[in-house]
Formats: sequence, C-alpha cells, structure tokens
Amino acid sequence: MRLSLCSISTLALSSSAFGQVVQWDIVKSDALLPRLRPRDGSSFDSALNNNIQLGGYIATVQVGTPGQQLSLQLDTGSSDVWVPSNKASICRSKAGCQLGTFDSSKSSTFDDFGRGLFDISYQDNSSSKGDYFGDRFQIGSVSLDNLTIGLGRETSVPYGLIGVGYVNNEASIGTTRSTYPNLPVALQQAGLIKTIAYSLWLNDLRSSTGSILFGGIDTGKYVGQLTKVPVIRNDRVGNFTVFAVSMYSLEATSSSGSDTLTSSTSPISVVLDSGTSFSYLPQDMVSQAWQEVGAVWNSNAGTPVLPCSCANHAGHFSFVFSGPNGPRINVTMNELVLPLTSGPPPKFTSGPYRGKTMCGFGLVNQTEPPFILGDTFLRSAYVVYDLVNNEIGLAATNFNSTKTNVVAFASGGATIPSATAVSNQGNATRPPQASQTGLSASKGLQADSAAVLQSHLSVPGLVVMVVAMVYMLIVS
Ligand SMILES: *[C@@H]1O[C@H](CO)[C@@H](O)[C@H](O)[C@H]1NC(C)=O
Ligand SMILES: *[C@@H]1O[C@H](CO)[C@@H](O)[C@H](O)[C@H]1NC(C)=O
Ligand SMILES: *[C@@H]1O[C@H](CO)[C@@H](O)[C@H](O)[C@H]1NC(C)=O
Ligand SMILES: *[C@@H]1O[C@H](CO)[C@@H](O)[C@H](O)[C@H]1NC(C)=O
Ligand SMILES: *[C@@H]1O[C@H](CO)[C@@H](O)[C@H](O)[C@H]1NC(C)=O
Ligand SMILES: *[C@@H]1O[C@H](CO)[C@@H](O)[C@H](O)[C@H]1NC(C)=O
Ligand SMILES: *[C@@H]1O[C@H](CO)[C@@H](O)[C@H](O)[C@H]1NC(C)=O
Repeated sequence: MRLSLCSISTLALSSSAFGQVVQWDIVKSDALLPRLRPRDGSSFDSALNNNIQLGGYIATVQVGTPGQQLSLQLDTGSSDVWVPSNKASICRSKAGCQLGTFDSSKSSTFDDFGRGLFDISYQDNSSSKGDYFGDRFQIGSVSLDNLTIGLGRETSVPYGLIGVGYVNNEASIGTTRSTYPNLPVALQQAGLIKTIAYSLWLNDLRSSTGSILFGGIDTGKYVGQLTKVPVIRNDRVGNFTVFAVSMYSLEATSSSGSDTLTSSTSPISVVLDSGTSFSYLPQDMVSQAWQEVGAVWNSNAGTPVLPCSCANHAGHFSFVFSGPNGPRINVTMNELVLPLTSGPPPKFTSGPYRGKTMCGFGLVNQTEPPFILGDTFLRSAYVVYDLVNNEIGLAATNFNSTKTNVVAFASGGATIPSATAVSNQGNATRPPQASQTGLSASKGLQADSAAVLQSHLSVPGLVVMVVAMVYMLIVS
C-alpha cells in the first residue's frame, strides 16, 4: 500500500461553483492498490484480498484554519466525512498515512464537540474511531465554516473518506441515535446548491480523472437518455440508507450471440457504491459471466482472473434496471479486466493460460446481500443521485468527453433535470427468463483465445477443472 510521490504530485484539483452547482475533479488512485508481494515466492500476499478494494477515487480538500491538505476517498456507500488524526498509530507507523493527516492542535477553528462519538466500520471490516468535530472544510473555492467531520484517532484505514450517502447511514446513529447535516446537506444549507443531489462521472478505466457535480447534471457527460429509477427503501430502518436499486437482469452480448444471465434471487437489489472497486453479485449469476468470458477463480487473489489480453475482446455485458424496459448500461470487456496490482502483473504459471499475464475480472461472487455495483460498473454509467426524491438517474457514460453543459436542479426538491421515468414498469417484479441457448455469447467474448481453450470453456462444468489448474501461481 505504498503511494509513490509521483502519484501524489499528479493529484489535480479543480473546483468551480457557478451559483447553483459545485463541481470537483476526482482522481483515480491506482496508487491505493497494493503492490503484490510474493509470499514463499509462490503466491499472493493474503493481504491482497482486502486491500484490493482500496483502489478508488480521491479528491483533495483543506481542513481547519489554516487549511491542512488531505486527499480523501469519495464514497457513495457511506455518509461521513472523516480524516485520520496525525496521532493515529497507523499514521505514525513506517508506511504512514501518505494521503495526509489532520493535526487538530494546529487548527484555530477546531471544535471537538463530539468526543468519542465517531465510530464507523466498513463492509470489509476496516474501521475508524474517534471524535466528531466541527471545522472549516474547503474544496477548491468552496468552503463550509463548520462541517461535522469524524476524526479517526484509531483507524485501520490509512486515509480518510468523503461519504456522500444518506444521513440515515451516518455512523453517529450508532453512538448518538441522531443524524447531522453531512456534506451534501451542508452544501445545500449553505445555499451553494438548491437541492440535495449530485452527479458522478468516473469516466474510462484508463483515464485518471472524473468529476462529481453537486446540485446539477452535465448533459455533456452522457449519451442517450437519462432515466430515473427509484431507490429501494431499507425496510429494517423504514427509510433510505443506501443507493440500492433493482437490477432486473444481466445480459452477455457478443458477435456469437446474446444470453440472459439469471440468478435465483432476481431481481436483485444492488447498491451503487463508488467506494468499492469491483462489483459483487450472486454466485449463480456471476459464475455464468465467468464462463462467458473464460475467467477462473483464483483463491490467492480472492477474485476471478483471466488473461489481461481479454480486455481487448469485443462484446459487453448489459445491466438492466427496474424491469425489462428500464435503463440499460453496457459495460465492455476493457472496463471489466483490471490490473491486480500497481506493479508488474503476475503470470499464469500453469493451465491453459500458462505464460499469459493475469488480470482480475470485475464481476465477483458474493454469498449474501448487500450486492454491490462498484467502480467496474460505475465507470460505464453516468449516475445522478437525488437524495430528496430518492431517485437515481442512469445513462451511458460519454467516455473522455470534454463537452460540458451543466443544468442545475431548479429548486429544492425538484426532480432530476432532463430525465424520464421508466415507462411500463408493470413487469418489473416478474423475474427475467434465462436464455434458452446457454452460453451463446461466449465464443465471441473469448475470440482471440486459444481455440482449444475456447471449446473447453464453453462447456459448463469444466471451469472447475481450470480453476484447479491455476492454483499454482508465481508472481513474476
Ligand atoms: C467481518 O467480520 C465478521 C465478524 O467477525 C465476519 O463474519 C466477516 O466474514 C468479516 N468480513 C470480511 C469481509 O472479512
Ligand atoms: C459546529 O457545529 C456543531 C454541530 O452542529 C455545533 O455543536 C457547534 O457549536 C458548532 N461550532 C461552531 C464554532 O459554530
Ligand atoms: C479515454 O482516454 C484514455 C487515455 O486518457 C484512452 O486510453 C481511452 O482509450 C479513451 N477511451 C475511450 C472510450 O475513447
Ligand atoms: C427519513 O429520513 C429523513 C432524513 O433524516 C427524514 O427527514 C424523514 O422524516 C425520514 N422519513 C421517515 C418516514 O422516517
Ligand atoms: C447496449 O447493448 C445492446 C445489446 O446488448 C444494444 O442494443 C444497445 O444499442 C447498446 N447500447 C449502447 C448505448 O451502446
Ligand atoms: C466465489 O467462488 C469461488 C469459486 O467458486 C469460491 O471458492 C468462493 O468461496 C466464492 N466466494 C464467495 C464469497 O462466495
Ligand atoms: C409484461 O410483459 C408481457 C410480455 O413481454 C407483455 O405482453 C405485457 O403487456 C407486459 N405487461 C405489463 C403490465 O407491462
């Protein structure tokens, strides 16, 4: 988890506030991916399994007076902004907290009003604990005088986060049973934006910057129509806590055909979470996707893997939301095949892929909810999060677009501009039918693979054998 100085110097920041919207650039930080270290010379370090999720998008902010600079990970899956304390033991260790720490004794505006009340844990069991404090929070030219921020005095994560989710998911609920105005709400209360909503454009896997636009949408950053789908309420809490939407089906399409990949639990509630690098879906659905592309499970990496060259294969997966007529986001192979490390890629040492460089496949199995659509999905989608009407706007990303046409939300509580609702949701609760043809898209998705491998992998069931073959793995 070493961050090179070179990466730090590329942390660009720009911000603009033209009356009704606030925009920040966010920077993809591959540097948060750990380098692979060989253990006994033959396998991945076991730490990789958790750390692989640390890749993400960061923004640079100033906290306190005078401002102390930190880079924080943007996270739609949580709801607190927090910073690591300079006194946290992880920050005093050798690796340190290279994205920045906060020294409260050096801020004249620091107000430690919530001693011991900050306590957050994330799904990967990482956590951060300490105080809630109020202080000046600045991003570019936008400044909030007294934003409530968590101070990580004891943290297992070496950098802070910008959680932009619902207030009902704030960590303060666990300690005080109450919520506070978090960043999106505070921006609205300060009059910087009209309603509590923002749009996220992560852009291409190979491009390092995207942007988050509070209070508006940018019609230059998507193609086709922006379509609204409802956020699913958390029944246990009786309110909205996370950006869960209904995923109706997953389809694989290539030159050789098209298949509907189903799950016994379809339609699935999926959480849109920019703080998670991969996407996590039910086992029965993703194992079909692995067969389609020829990915195999690697227990050392804790992910499905495939040759990096598969990124160049034609074909795509379509994620369909809220029913058969709902928005459809296509994700191409080059967005789904990811480096496993920021260093030189490991190689397959045995099995049909022997000698080829190894990459991760972005659709991972998970046993239980919550199922998550992380960055491997989100880069291909322009997503508008409307926290007042509890709606998500979805459209296909306009990759690498330099076009800008910002449309602000008209007023507090106004609906997403330029978006249409899903028409005819009458069938939304009826599960999709599995395609009758089996793996008809696999041939096209695997084109360029060795012919022998292709014929093997297109037979369901043989994948298990291939999995066994790639267990032996040496880091190059
Ligand atoms: C987190 O901890 C819980 C309880 O100890 C455990 O059941 C779960 O498997 C852990 N999750 C991960 C991702 O390690
Ligand atoms: C900052 O906000 C907190 C929480 O609302 C409040 O308790 C505190 O008094 C405020 N501090 C200042 C300096 O305004
Ligand atoms: C976007 O730009 C990156 C380089 O910045 C390039 O590698 C990538 O292919 C481009 N993507 C598209 C879809 O044009
Ligand atoms: C849901 O949470 C919001 C924000 O805290 C609150 O304003 C609203 O009253 C809650 N709705 C219900 C039904 O509890
Ligand atoms: C997405 O893929 C489907 C076929 O799977 C195709 O009909 C549709 O045009 C594609 N959409 C875009 C925006 O490329
Ligand atoms: C994912 O699938 C692999 C291979 O089938 C299996 O070994 C692993 O336990 C599964 N992981 C989860 C979380 O279900
Ligand atoms: C549901 O789907 C069927 C078959 O596609 C169609 O004939 C029917 O009109 C749909 N019903 C509703 C209420 O949309």
